[in-house]
Amino acid sequence: MEHQENKQCLTQGYLEAFKHFATKAIHAGQEPEQWKSRAVVPPISLAATFKQYSPGEFAGYEYSRCGNPTRHCLEEAVATLDGATYCVAFASGLSATLNVVHLLDAGDHIICNSDVYGGTNKYFRTLATKMGLKVTFVDCSDLNSLEAAITPDTKLVWIESPTNPTLVVIDIQGCADIVHKHQGILLAVDNTFMSPYFQRPLSLGADICMCSATKYMNGHNDVVMGLVSVNCDKLYEKLKFLQTDIGAVPSPFECFLCNRGLKTLPLRMRQHFHNGLAVAMYLERDPRVDKVLFPGLPSHPQYELTKRQCTGVSGMVSFYIKGGLEHAKIFLTSLKVFALAGSLGGYDSLAAHAAIMTHASVPEEDRALLNITDTLIRLSVGLEDAEDIIEDLDQALQVAHPDLTNPTKVEDLLRNLKISD
Ligand SMILES: Cc1ncc(COP(=O)(O)O)c(C=O)c1O
Repeated sequence: MEHQENKQCLTQGYLEAFKHFATKAIHAGQEPEQWKSRAVVPPISLAATFKQYSPGEFAGYEYSRCGNPTRHCLEEAVATLDGATYCVAFASGLSATLNVVHLLDAGDHIICNSDVYGGTNKYFRTLATKMGLKVTFVDCSDLNSLEAAITPDTKLVWIESPTNPTLVVIDIQGCADIVHKHQGILLAVDNTFMSPYFQRPLSLGADICMCSATKYMNGHNDVVMGLVSVNCDKLYEKLKFLQTDIGAVPSPFECFLCNRGLKTLPLRMRQHFHNGLAVAMYLERDPRVDKVLFPGLPSHPQYELTKRQCTGVSGMVSFYIKGGLEHAKIFLTSLKVFALAGSLGGYDSLAAHAAIMTHASVPEEDRALLNITDTLIRLSVGLEDAEDIIEDLDQALQVAHPDLTNPTKVEDLLRNLKISD
């Protein structure tokens, strides 16, 4: 226990100095004094187990599945950024979701937003239901529909905002107000697309903030991990029990990498926002594009809500290319800066065909209802130069639609681009 107590004193001492987001991202949970060596970078503790003084008496850590110093550093940093008291790290975003669902009992009812990451949809539809849980998919952007779907058995409402892949923004505070009219229902928000830099669900009334750290939090496309932050002591105790006893923990090396990624989260998110907005503005004027979905554009249906709820948006831009599946395929295979790959949130730009790739597991009729059509393209706009990103999109659109051109001058667009965050 000695290490933990010592750590607590240190953290309290530092708290006053760590006031703003970037300072917290760099320093919270990383105090060099917690290590004998006073290393300014948290060491990677690869040990699976820790030597005890006497049976049951140990220096804070017993066995790495139950607790690990490198993981602990990351969990503290993330909790601070999420404005939470606690964070619990898991081996993937989906295993974080699974652990949250394990808070429930057979017979309980879950409301899941109808537009979520395809893997989340598949998990709720095929696996959670196998455990005796009842699941209803509801469009939670319509608060009346959410309210109407609540039953006496409802124990969890799961939303994602903005949604993947159609970037619908859900009123988190509005959902929390409805959910908390009823006792015993938890509101969980998947914050993967935003990261705590742009959106803090717990401060908007959510009980659980979940994140696939595989995406923006780590930001380098070299880690698979999930994070769950909460404020409630009891919820934390239950999640900690599940983390230990289900055992889906990330490796110390991945915790080290993700912790390192966090140090540049504010810088990266600002640039993702800048590049995403430039791309969205360019595509919005493009005759080869039917419609652009980007919550940072004034034309987005929930633009005002986005401004209220978030301090910016990430580099996720979806759009419908003119034509059909063939045009989408030609466009995607003609890209050079963007890689055709199914993830997001890294420094490198990625493009995906949602219907065939990330949301293939969503039944076809549900995809149609969600407007996940053959012409929907999802872009994760990276940190390359905006000129190169836009030129790449332009040349790939040109290959798909040789007869049409975008009249926008990229230099003018970028010169006039203003972002206030
Ligand atoms: C919004 C969202 N949530 C959760 C997940 C699942 O995360 P992971 O791939 O880390 O399991 C993903 C993966 O793409 C996602 O996009």
